Amino acid sequence: MFYVEILGTLPEMAVAEVRSLAELGNGYVNEVDYLLVSGEVENLKVFERLGLAHEYGVLLFSCEDVKDLLDFVKGFDWSKVIAGTFAVRRERMRNCSYNIEGIDRLIGGIIHSQGFKVNLSSPDVVVRVYCGERLWIGVRVREFKGKEFDERKADRRPFSRPIALPPRIARAMVNLTRARRELLDPFMGTGGMLIEAGLMGLKVYGIDIREDMVEGAKINLEYYGVKDYVVKVGDATKIEEAFPGKTFEAIATDPPYGTSTTLPIDRDELYRRSLESMYSVLEGYLSIAFPSDFNAVDVAESIGFKVLDMFYQRVHSSLSRYFYVMKT
Ligand SMILES: C[S@@+](CC[C@H](N)C(=O)[O-])C[C@H]1O[C@@H](n2cnc3c(N)ncnc32)[C@H](O)[C@@H]1O
Repeated sequence: MFYVEILGTLPEMAVAEVRSLAELGNGYVNEVDYLLVSGEVENLKVFERLGLAHEYGVLLFSCEDVKDLLDFVKGFDWSKVIAGTFAVRRERMRNCSYNIEGIDRLIGGIIHSQGFKVNLSSPDVVVRVYCGERLWIGVRVREFKGKEFDERKADRRPFSRPIALPPRIARAMVNLTRARRELLDPFMGTGGMLIEAGLMGLKVYGIDIREDMVEGAKINLEYYGVKDYVVKVGDATKIEEAFPGKTFEAIATDPPYGTSTTLPIDRDELYRRSLESMYSVLEGYLSIAFPSDFNAVDVAESIGFKVLDMFYQRVHSSLSRYFYVMKT
């Protein structure tokens, strides 16, 4: 059993990301308790790819009574999950409906009485207790620090333009495509989507209509250690011209939000024609962002896409967008 503690910023998209990765790991999500998502997967390693998450781990038990939780802790053989020192950390979520004051010390005491040494500052193993609608206990496998994503933010890339999505969101978009082998971004810009996908071990393909972006994306991909890439100048409305005869397992992309004054063709026309081109080369999932004033569902469905999910985000007072997950 696994648990993932998701970020609170785009919670529905974060749950969908966990669900997509669970699917990749031949598993499923079975419960969502505010920011705690639990389920089954064959191999937890698939969660190393997460973007919109604080941490993931092995879920040991969940219940609806503090006494049941303590009974579990007393009866569990902690040598199965603790080697070295440990600490218990509790999380009181907004929907916590139990009195869990001091529960971390109580649980720590019980585990300690089984012969394990506490180390609060740098434990080898962190035992996590979450309080929401239910009580949950697990052992952390990996914590995702904001710092590692910050290193890949638009302004930290050697080739930098203020057009890129935050790396955590780009990563989640890649994961929503359920890509196992490869990913195409036909509006790649500075390469944010491709950097995240490349770091997950996917082969990445990208095009941009601007030569300077293509050169810049190459510099960025190399800088972050992504080697398996093919990037070139190309038009997202004519993807097959850039990659003749090739189909793609997955596409994640963030088209320009400009108006007709900043784009060579009408914005909605660019969106429609590029969706048609993506449809013709894709055999799988598309994850794409559009400003909320574009009627993406009708346009995509008229082309043949099935729209599976959409997640709203207000970016600032004059921009809100939807992230869509579609399938051919
Ligand atoms: C919002 S930016 C993408 C940002 C990208 N995710 C990043 O990390 O930098 C959109 C990009 O689409 C490119 N573009 C505009 N029209 C295009 C077209 N017809 N075909 C391909 N790229 C196009 C622009 O040059 C721009 O770099």
